[in-house]
Order: sequence, then C-alpha cells, then structure tokens
Amino acid sequence: MNDLYIGLMSGTSADGIDAVLVEFSQTKPHVIATHYTPYPETLRQQILALCQPGENEIQRLGELDTLLGTLLSEAANSLIHSQSLTAKAIRAIGSHGQTIRHAPNQPHRFTLQIGDPNTIAALTGITTVADFRRKDVACGGQGAPLVPAFHHDAFASASTPRAIVNIGGMANVTLLPTAFTTRLIGFDTGPGNALLDGWIQTHQQQTHDQNGAWGAQGTLQKTLLTQCLSDPYFQLPPPKSTGREHFNQAWLRHQLASLPSSFTPRDIQATLTELTAQTIVNAIASHLPSGDILVCGGGAHNTFLMNRLTALAAPAFQVRSTESDGIHPDWVEAIAFAWLAKRTLEKKSGNLPSVTGANQASILGGIYYA
Ligand SMILES: Nc1ncnc2c1ncn2[C@@H]1O[C@H](COP(=O)(O)OP(=O)(O)O)[C@@H](O)[C@H]1O
Ligand SMILES: [Mg+2]
Repeated sequence: MNDLYIGLMSGTSADGIDAVLVEFSQTKPHVIATHYTPYPETLRQQILALCQPGENEIQRLGELDTLLGTLLSEAANSLIHSQSLTAKAIRAIGSHGQTIRHAPNQPHRFTLQIGDPNTIAALTGITTVADFRRKDVACGGQGAPLVPAFHHDAFASASTPRAIVNIGGMANVTLLPTAFTTRLIGFDTGPGNALLDGWIQTHQQQTHDQNGAWGAQGTLQKTLLTQCLSDPYFQLPPPKSTGREHFNQAWLRHQLASLPSSFTPRDIQATLTELTAQTIVNAIASHLPSGDILVCGGGAHNTFLMNRLTALAAPAFQVRSTESDGIHPDWVEAIAFAWLAKRTLEKKSGNLPSVTGANQASILGGIYYA
C-alpha cells in the first residue's frame, strides 16, 4: 500500500490553510497534490483577536475550533477529490491546527492550537493526528519548533552545513549537522512576516507587502533597527521559541515610542524587513561559519527580504529557496506535519530535545480514529 498522508498547516500569519497530499515511500517526500484555502479577512481577524486576551474567549474559542476543524476537513477532502481517491487510500492526516496562544515560559506553561481534530476525522473519514506541541511542552520543552526533525530527514547533506529557514509569521531555523558535527540545533529567530503584515495592513490596507515592493521603497532607519535589535529575545541562547504574544504591533509601538516620529511608514517597513533579515542571518552565523541557507515559508516570496538575506549572508552563505532541493517553499511545513503524523502512527518520536529543550524524545500528538 502507498504511504499516502495529508498534512494540514495554518501558521501564525493566519493567512489560510496549506494542505498537501504526500507520499513518503521514496527517499524524498513526493508531493502528489496541494491545496490552499485563504481565510476571508473576517476570519483572519477573529483568529488574531483570539491571540490576545479578550471578552468571552471560551465561547469564541469553541466556535472557532469547530469552524477551523470544518475548513481543515474541507481542505483535506478537496485534495482527495482532486486525485479521485477515497478516504481509505489515505493512511492519516497530520493537522497542526491554528496557534492562538504560545506561552511555554510562564509558570503554568502551555501552548494551544485549535481546529478540532474530532471534526476532521468525522468529516473526512480519515484518522487524524493533531495537537503535536503539547506533549513536548509537557516534557519541559518549548513545544517549538517541531519541523527540524523533518528538515533533517528531507534536507540533510553529508558535506555542506545547511540552515533551513522557515519564514512564516515568526521565523525559525534548523542548523543541520554534517558528518563532522553532531548536534542538530533549531529555534525561532524572532519575527518573520508578522510585523511586516501588521504594519502594511495599518498603513496600506493590504494583507502583506507583495514581493516586499513597498518596504523596498523605504530607507533603513538605523536608530529604529538598533532599538528593535535590543530586544532581549535575540540574545537568548536556544532552546527558545516565540510568537505573536511577544512580537506584535504593540511591541512595535513600544519600540517607536522613544524615537523621533520623523520616519515614514515605508521607512519603518524597510527597517522591519531588515530586522527579520538580520536576526535570521545573525542567528545562523552564530552557530555555523559557512554553508547553504535554504528558505521556505511565505517569506521566500518577498523579493526584498530575500535580497537582504542574500546580501547579509554573503560571502560565507549561499541563500536560495528549498525549491532548489526539490520541495516548493510553500509546502514544507504542511509536509512536515504529514511526516510527524507518520512518526506518531509508527510510535516514533517527533520532537528533538536538542531543539525544544524537552527532557526526552517523545511520541507527539493525539490520534483521532476515523
Ligand atoms: N508574494 C509575497 N510577497 C511578500 N510576502 C509574501 C508573499 N507571499 C506570501 N508572503 C508572506 O508570507 C506569509 C504567509 O507565509 P506562511 O509561510 O503561510 O506563514 P505562516 O506559517 O505563519 O502562516 C504572508 O502573511 C505574507 O506575509
Ligand atoms: Mg500560512
């Protein structure tokens, strides 16, 4: 039987659902079909509202949990129908869900992803693995990032040190060991697209800065960059993870508060793009002397950001998209959660203690049978 899995991802950008139908029987994951469900702006706002404390949260959480479960199952079903398959052909769905809180460093530590897996299993007829992060948190880990084990499986190179960078709402890196190094490191570097998306939404009423064109017209403001870089998160040693709870528009307003108000909105966008690029390159360069940087996630489409990454990383590092390694940057994370579901069903661990800080490698997630 084919090893067919579906991976469902909805990241911190809250832009929509990435869905992949993928086969794992070959050395590299083979993507058979992909589907993207963009979230309507009202739904995106409902999700972002739940990421902050607010009124009537439990009711809103419950309703959104079911609604997202339904949308996730529709995304999975459209993949199956596109290939004229039935539910029986699919071994399992791996669903990340939508993070609405990530708080692994407070006294009662938790992380919370919604998008009801009971609904997904019921509406697809496919066994669903979900809730991957909380087991790692229960084992003392950050619960994030979880993609490094998959990055290692899909992108490791025996000869060249490699960094895999996922630029979603936040950005995370995986530093892949070569034959000469043994420790695999991975962590969130800080903001990816989230600050950029929020800023252009306020000033241009657009969901994102298409290809970075608006930011590219601005001028880098060094005082603002220095102020942003002084955030203690960037100096923290790994393991570490972050989210919208920390890097959000309130954080940006706080950074701007002590500075002159002479910056134009596009200068600020240029500076935030530089912040993402510099924090990624600094994070990689503090662990690897040279190598390849492979970029995935929506940030790989931001030409301005990619140009800044390339310039900052040269000459020690070559920057390119994961497409050069046979996996399109838009689908890496969704494939990773299909792969993690496979690990769970095989009773294999999915987290890497060297990455998350967990006290043990552990089988992740809950299984919701069809
Ligand atoms: N053409 C593009 N130009 C600039 N930014 C883009 C482009 N396409 C996608 N993005 C950015 O990527 C984000 C989505 O990336 P994604 O990997 O889905 O993140 P997440 O995992 O957080 O949902 C968008 O919110 C946007 O900021
Ligand atoms: Mg997304």
